[in-house]
Amino acid sequence: MDKLVINGGKPLYGCIEINGAKNAAVAILPAAIMASEGVCNIDNIPNIEDVHCIERINESLGCTLVRDKNSVSIDSSKINSVIANTEDVRKMRASYYLIGALLGRFKKAVVELPGGCPIGVRPIDQHIKGFEALGAKVEIKHGCVTAEADRLIGTNIFFDVVSVGATINVMLAATFAEGVTTLENVAKEPHVVDVANFLNSMGANIKGAGTDVIRVVGVESLKGCSYSVIPDQIEAGTYMIAAAACGGEVTIQNVIPKHLESISAKLIEMGAEVTEDGDCITVKSSGNLKGVNIKTQPYPGFPTDVQQPMSTLLTVAQGRSIINESIWESRFKHADELKKMGANVKVEGRSAIIDGVSKLTGAIVKATDLRAGAAMVIAGLIAEGTTEVVSIEHIDRGYPNIEEKFHALGADIIRVFCAE
Ligand code: EPU
Repeated sequence: MDKLVINGGKPLYGCIEINGAKNAAVAILPAAIMASEGVCNIDNIPNIEDVHCIERINESLGCTLVRDKNSVSIDSSKINSVIANTEDVRKMRASYYLIGALLGRFKKAVVELPGGCPIGVRPIDQHIKGFEALGAKVEIKHGCVTAEADRLIGTNIFFDVVSVGATINVMLAATFAEGVTTLENVAKEPHVVDVANFLNSMGANIKGAGTDVIRVVGVESLKGCSYSVIPDQIEAGTYMIAAAACGGEVTIQNVIPKHLESISAKLIEMGAEVTEDGDCITVKSSGNLKGVNIKTQPYPGFPTDVQQPMSTLLTVAQGRSIINESIWESRFKHADELKKMGANVKVEGRSAIIDGVSKLTGAIVKATDLRAGAAMVIAGLIAEGTTEVVSIEHIDRGYPNIEEKFHALGADIIRVFCAE
């Protein structure tokens, strides 16, 4: 297993470019299978393991895929299976989007239950509630979801919890439902809007994405289109936090600053300088910042996916910070790793109480999940001495070329390839 070896303590200076959004791409690629004619040419696709995984799943269903750097062409006209049951399906979270996509287009989907980061219970009851409301019969047996309908019929669906996955999945199926479907209490994340825009580019009729209510007027078929995925809000947020933690001045290019407002606001509250210029955001910091309290919330609140990187920054901020994680019940597994580096973190249920220390010290630490991995890389960058981050396959699922990007900013970080 590969590892990242970091000699910490160097400020970061320079520019980096953010890639396409993981959580948009892993929904758009399954959505592309809904086009029964033509080719979807999708650009700004990040080169990460979760994307490769979805691409392989699409191919296993009969799609033809051609990859060229950050773009992919998908021809889904000859799909010959509605059964997604490969190891890749079980390994990742977003494979559940195949349920909505296949159910919509073929009125039948047989998809094994998804995996994903171990950050708490991850039910799909709201997805099922939505499919059933559209008229599907849904059954879970032997770890596999079967959803089937003679017809899907538009209706009103009010979600009990705000869920990114359920919003997107039911929107996929509703695209082919007869009549109008109204989805209420939906997620407003930028990637929800991006998937709706992609579906509309293929010929869907979806309005309201980005607000609390999405209205889908069903269509009979979709066709290929050209589309470019939005920049990754979470990747950008991670580099903003790293710049604030290490000190220096970093310009992060290819971002939508509006998507980063909750993160910018917290960094400014801590004493960093954050400036926007078109599609760039610059973070300037002395590295000596003050602690703040954070509560993770659905968009436009502070994103749970940057909570872990942020917690690393708070370990060296002055005073006490309290993080309340309101989305996932178990997203502080990295706290024990931070403690190995000298951090003063106490986890109580869904809260972490962090008392700032003057420095972290290098250690061998583990990436317990994707964002925890990014948190440990930032910890290594600010720590005195050498840090080894192991289990970095989690990081590779979501951050393209992380060591190259930090290296370009002046960090002393290398990937050590280890034989299995
Ligand atoms: N929930 C339910 N029932 C459901 C669905 C969700 O109770 O049917 C609950 C969850 O237990 C959770 C909350 O609703 O407490 C929000 O879950 P959501 O469905 O929004 O999460 P998700 O779609 O499974 C996506 C991202 C996550 C990100 C969350 C929240 C993808 C592939 N994953 O997960 O991303 O944390 O939204 O923004 O889009 C990551 O990228 O590191 C990551 C974990």
